[in-house]
Amino acid sequence: MTKVGVLGAGTWGIALARMLAVNGKDVTVWSALPEELKNLRATRRHPNLPGMELPESMHYTADLAELCVNKDLLLFAVPSVFVRSTAKKAAQYIVDGQLIVDVAKGMEEKTLMSMSEVIEDELKNVPGHEHCRVVALSGPTHAEEVARDLPTLIVAAAKAEQDAKEVQKIFNNQNFRVYTNTDRLGTELGGAIKNVIALSVGIAMGLGYGDNAKAALITRGNAELSRLGMAMGCRAETFAGLSGMGDLIVTCTSMHSRNLHAGMLIGHGMSAEDAKAEVGQVVEGINALPAAKRLEKKYKVEMPIVDVVDAILSGKLAARDAVASLMGRNLKKE
Ligand SMILES: NC(=O)c1ccc[n+]([C@@H]2O[C@H](COP(=O)([O-])OP(=O)(O)OC[C@H]3O[C@@H](n4cnc5c(N)ncnc54)[C@H](O)[C@@H]3O)[C@@H](O)[C@H]2O)c1
Repeated sequence: MTKVGVLGAGTWGIALARMLAVNGKDVTVWSALPEELKNLRATRRHPNLPGMELPESMHYTADLAELCVNKDLLLFAVPSVFVRSTAKKAAQYIVDGQLIVDVAKGMEEKTLMSMSEVIEDELKNVPGHEHCRVVALSGPTHAEEVARDLPTLIVAAAKAEQDAKEVQKIFNNQNFRVYTNTDRLGTELGGAIKNVIALSVGIAMGLGYGDNAKAALITRGNAELSRLGMAMGCRAETFAGLSGMGDLIVTCTSMHSRNLHAGMLIGHGMSAEDAKAEVGQVVEGINALPAAKRLEKKYKVEMPIVDVVDAILSGKLAARDAVASLMGRNLKKE
């Protein structure tokens, strides 16, 4: 039986843990918050996934050594801001060549690394780690729907196709279809930048704009993402796929999207900090914004939607003036 260790007991970690357990995997979940494990063990429910019941077969541990040892696959599902600290603590227990999957979406502000690169970076600090196998699993996938076994498509992206194929085989089931891609950076970039674009759509909705504005921001948001990705050496097709346009569509239109919700609150006049507190769960678009700005500068690409979101969140531009700022740009070809 495939043994899986899940690091992180937020909505995504738990939705995937349940799915894998229901599909016959031996699943153990670790959390940095012991109270959270106690509740999961006692109730077999997650507070943000109502109606979902966790199988009795699932195990829980607060001990990272126990989580990592003797596992065929380790799944990093903590929010992006905790990926490095979690990888740092876990690295000593991870065996060279152990299959690792990252589902956190973001780019690290200081290093501009993707989350898979952050994990690799921490593993390389431990002697004997020469064969890192980190796969990014990303796409249009809300935990609330995966928790109910609703049909979902996702991409397993790795530098080595064989690693992506292994992950495809472990996660794929009748409700969860997994594709592979060898453009890992492009796959992860889509997952990070789309959250910033979702903030812009939320702001537009909060201001009372309509579906024309929503479609415009999604499409031009994808143009910004693709421009940046191509400058970074990623493949154009990735941005037209599930982890690019697919994830943009779901994040910018779904009632489950926290980034969209946070954007709407900001469009109504709330500060970014207050919007984050009101949403109550991680808002990765706000976390990803500084890295998006730095990448834009480093690769010298135009990202006007990212610029406007940054200006609004840092208080330099009133949300109601944002549309004039975008509409008043120099006229150009599509
Ligand atoms: N929720 C989704 O539908 C979804 C889908 C795809 C990808 N993702 C990505 O998965 C990641 C996790 O998202 P989520 O929805 O589970 O977030 P969440 O807000 O539900 O996660 C919070 C969890 O983070 C963990 N945590 C808290 N403090 C920690 C610490 N100091 N160190 C380590 N872990 C700590 C705890 O287990 C807590 O439950 C994000 O990067 C998100 O973008 C989420």
